Amino acid sequence: MSAGLPWDFEPLRTDRLRLRTMTPADLDDVLDYQGRDDVSEFLLHPARTREQVAEAITLCTAHTRLEQDGDWIEPAVELDGRVVGHMYLHLHSVENLGAEIGWTLHPDAQGRGYAREAATALLDLAFGRLGMHRVRAELDPRNDASIALCRRLGMREEARFVRDLREPRAPGGWADTGVWAILDDEWAARRADEKGLGSARRLPA
Ligand SMILES: CC(C)(COP(=O)(O)OP(=O)(O)OC[C@H]1O[C@@H](n2cnc3c(N)ncnc32)[C@H](O)[C@@H]1OP(=O)(O)O)[C@@H](O)C(=O)NCCC(=O)NCCS
Repeated sequence: MSAGLPWDFEPLRTDRLRLRTMTPADLDDVLDYQGRDDVSEFLLHPARTREQVAEAITLCTAHTRLEQDGDWIEPAVELDGRVVGHMYLHLHSVENLGAEIGWTLHPDAQGRGYAREAATALLDLAFGRLGMHRVRAELDPRNDASIALCRRLGMREEARFVRDLREPRAPGGWADTGVWAILDDEWAARRADEKGLGSARRLPA
């Protein structure tokens, strides 16, 4: 068992954002991005209806503890009081101290470094308080924006599974899965370098 588990969700603050548990009051904000085809293009689910978003929020509110394999959290990314996206942290293996990270932003909030800022807070949490050894991201290799974010975070491409995912929206009905990852010592070295530069925001994007 990691020294940091079990862990109960607590809101995280970054320079510009707040990561906190979703609530039913977020429905309109969340529908605003989860209901869009351009946002869901490379997600595992198509754009959601209002009812599906309400169900997803209910599920999220019930997932606030990381303790056992399979536990996950999906905190809202709040900017100036509005939910502009969410992050995802999934505890894959307590034995191997492995987790998975994910991200989704409203298009209006993309291109401003918010995903990187929120992901940095979650990786600090995962490798710090939770004591994780490896964090991975799984993505559709056609998702250039997500790949660029992995690169900005210092993650390494480790695998590409070819046509392993049944995906009616992908050509031929199958999508590839790309696996990117970073280890605890790599993250620590990166953060030390960034602090040496004064601020993560001064790194090249
Ligand atoms: C994947 C996703 C979260 C990436 O979001 P993003 O906003 O591009 O990522 P970042 O937070 O790293 O922002 C980087 C951009 O902000 C710019 N930026 C502006 N101000 C910045 C700042 N203060 N700090 C850092 N970057 C800044 C960078 O130059 C970069 O711009 P570029 O894309 O033109 O090069 C987003 O595209 C998304 O939500 N996609 C839809 C859902 C999805 O596919 N999720 C992933 C499933 S695997």
